[in-house]
Amino acid sequence: MIRTRNLSKSYSTGRGKVQAISDVSLFVDTGMTLTVMGKSGSGKTTLLNCIGGIERPDTGSVECFGVDIHALSNRDLSLFQRRNAGFVFQAGNLLSYLTVSENIAFPLVLNAIPNKEKDRRVLELLEKIELSDAARAMPNELSGGEAQRVAFARAIAHCPKMLLADEPTASLDTETGKNLVGLMFALGKEEKCTIIISTHDQEIIKLSYKSLDIRDGKVKGPENE
Ligand SMILES: Nc1ncnc2c1ncn2[C@@H]1O[C@H](COP(=O)(O)OP(=O)(O)OP(=O)(O)O)[C@@H](O)[C@H]1O
Ligand SMILES: [Mg+2]
Repeated sequence: MIRTRNLSKSYSTGRGKVQAISDVSLFVDTGMTLTVMGKSGSGKTTLLNCIGGIERPDTGSVECFGVDIHALSNRDLSLFQRRNAGFVFQAGNLLSYLTVSENIAFPLVLNAIPNKEKDRRVLELLEKIELSDAARAMPNELSGGEAQRVAFARAIAHCPKMLLADEPTASLDTETGKNLVGLMFALGKEEKCTIIISTHDQEIIKLSYKSLDIRDGKVKGPENE
């Protein structure tokens, strides 16, 4: 289970202090998918970044599968992320100087997975995202939808327990976005990955098991415990 308790984070900016998220408590059961929706500036990225350990909250806690991640040192947090977390960002996910296969293999290399196992996993994922023929392609040779499928394959290559996807379909048309999210949900289920996706896309929200509304950094709705 992933659980946040009273998570708050503010930024000091040229516009003064911005309370990006405020007192957010939520949970997602292991293997389930949570969608976080909200308009631009509502705090979605900040929330995902705090849950994934990319940013430290000011107050509150994030418990991922029994680990209070913000109680970990930076070094231990990095190790935890490397093993257990996968990230899909809105854009610019892929390393431009690596091929599609090498991009997908990246977390496996970081986790020192033996070559044979690594190659097997990359082939398996290429098949699942229907890009076997693009194994040696460079990222700039891909369409936006293809690039996001590769980004997704890379995010789950090391079988992370959690996948955080920040508006993964923002740069895609509705149909392509729907397909990507369908693939995410199906594979997440198959691999028992707990997924949190932020989106503005109503189509994705319809597909998700549970969704939360974030407004001005606060989570609304009965499902917020
Ligand atoms: N690094 C930062 N420095 C200063 N302010 C920030 C920073 N990151 C976010 N903010 C502010 O915090 C608030 C929440 O931003 P956040 O990026 O979490 O929203 P969002 O819901 O992801 O928006 P979008 O849909 O546009 O991606 C905004 O007011 C934003 O300006
Ligand atoms: Mg954002």
